[in-house]
Amino acid sequence: MTPFYERNGITIYCGEASEVMAEWEAGSIDLTVTSPPYDDLRRYLGYTFDFAAIAGQLWRVTTKGGVAVWVVGDETKDGCETGNSFRQVLNFMSLGFNLHDTMIYDKNGFRYPFPDKYHQVFEFMFILSKGRPGSVNLLQDRPIIYNSHSSPRKREANGEMTRRKSYHNESGYGKRFNIWRYSPGGAKSSKDTVAFDHPAIFPEALARDHILSWSNPGDLVADPMLGSGTVAKMAQQLGRRFVGCDISEEYCKIAVDRLRQPSFFSSPAEVQPQGQKAEQAPLW
Ligand SMILES: C[S@@+](CC[C@H](N)C(=O)[O-])C[C@H]1O[C@@H](n2cnc3c(N)ncnc32)[C@H](O)[C@@H]1O
Repeated sequence: MTPFYERNGITIYCGEASEVMAEWEAGSIDLTVTSPPYDDLRRYLGYTFDFAAIAGQLWRVTTKGGVAVWVVGDETKDGCETGNSFRQVLNFMSLGFNLHDTMIYDKNGFRYPFPDKYHQVFEFMFILSKGRPGSVNLLQDRPIIYNSHSSPRKREANGEMTRRKSYHNESGYGKRFNIWRYSPGGAKSSKDTVAFDHPAIFPEALARDHILSWSNPGDLVADPMLGSGTVAKMAQQLGRRFVGCDISEEYCKIAVDRLRQPSFFSSPAEVQPQGQKAEQAPLW
């Protein structure tokens, strides 16, 4: 298949995900960060989505030790959530993926109020891995609120209380929790106005943080449903190679346009974990 765009290690195809992925080499992808259509929440120009075919290809193309981040939420129909997120993740596990972690994308707001439910403010970020993840660079940007001397105590088998080695480092920052808060929409998730011609982009910082966490520079990152190209753009900025596709030519054009936009981050330091405090602040 001829690429729609190919430059400096970034390749974009315009086509149906399972068909495009069928041409990718088995075991070639280090990290996938992707988000499928959520039930019938948005029509995306009316294209169809074959979960089983895409999931099978995702398993085939993922390298041993590779990770796939599946960002998904459920539609509420007649007052009930569809539960399809859970069906999908169980399906991934039956293919052989490990469910390495179930993370939450806290959207810091809600779209629709339901009279009989609490406001729905999150989506899942399922971290799937083929075997144990090979690249793990956990972000350490959570300001520590306890001092390092207050290490937890543990009762030994003989009944004595001992202090455990502190798990806090001296930097004042600790490992993140697995609930990540980003505000979607407007200038909060991207400064590229063209991105918002797509109905459902996720924040650049979300893509950035997963790429930093689960891959290394030079790795091959994929997004087979790339939409406005958020993952492609962040992979480019973080020195990863990228391959992806979208079924819509209109969205592929937006993605290519974004690759040419100036960086969301004004300096390289801003892609370091410490630069993320403002976006993450209220959670810890
Ligand atoms: C939730 S959006 C992805 C948004 C993206 N993460 C972003 O930040 O812009 C899902 C995308 O999947 C695409 N899509 C739907 N079915 C597809 C298929 N069978 N093959 C490839 N792309 C598909 C849609 O066109 C849509 O752009």
